[in-house]
Amino acid sequence: MTRGKFIALEGGEGAGKSTQARLLADALRACGQACVVTREPGGTPGAEAIRALLLGTEGEGWHARAEALLFAAARSDHVERLIVPALERGEWVICDRFVDSSRAYQGGGGGLSDAEVLDLHRIGSGGLLPDLTLLIEVSPEIVTQRLAARDGDQADRIGGRDASYHAAVAAAFRRFAEAEPARFARIDGNGTAEAVHAAVLARLEPLLP
Ligand code: TYD
Repeated sequence: MTRGKFIALEGGEGAGKSTQARLLADALRACGQACVVTREPGGTPGAEAIRALLLGTEGEGWHARAEALLFAAARSDHVERLIVPALERGEWVICDRFVDSSRAYQGGGGGLSDAEVLDLHRIGSGGLLPDLTLLIEVSPEIVTQRLAARDGDQADRIGGRDASYHAAVAAAFRRFAEAEPARFARIDGNGTAEAVHAAVLARLEPLLP
């Protein structure tokens, strides 16, 4: 049995990752490739419970290190119970956010070092990395319009952080993509969903079954 491919979608808020995950899964299934679409934080009952702890807006929230540990714990359950078993069955896994989100948000935005975030990932998830990480990049003006349409004033705890936090997150994602060009594909996310999907498929062509 050939192991499936693990594809992560990354980017800031309102980048259109979940739409692209769905379109990619439809395209893969249309060519006969079984796949699982999942998301982080979440994807298993335990990780979804941690998601509620992380993103709920009640109370004072978590300090940066506790937040990073909770993301790593959610990811550990997700990797062990959903991602690795699916890959071993030969299915592709399309994941809306993965460890690069922790590197960008808890590292770039939240102040942990990259080495600390990667240590937590090694302990929790054996350091598993996607075969390809699609970084969907959208201009701040378009993001503002999309989020106003999607969330109104109902942003979650992390989405609701200020513009400088989100700018640091975007800069961190860019640095990671520049540092690891073989694992990252930078996709211009400013166009229509169909145009972005075409760019995603073009980049995935070499991995397709
Ligand atoms: P979600 O509603 O999935 O955001 P989006 O639709 O923008 O992808 O919420 C996930 C939030 O959690 C988002 O603000 C990014 C944040 N996050 C981290 O800070 N670290 C992580 O490791 C992950 C997976 C997500």
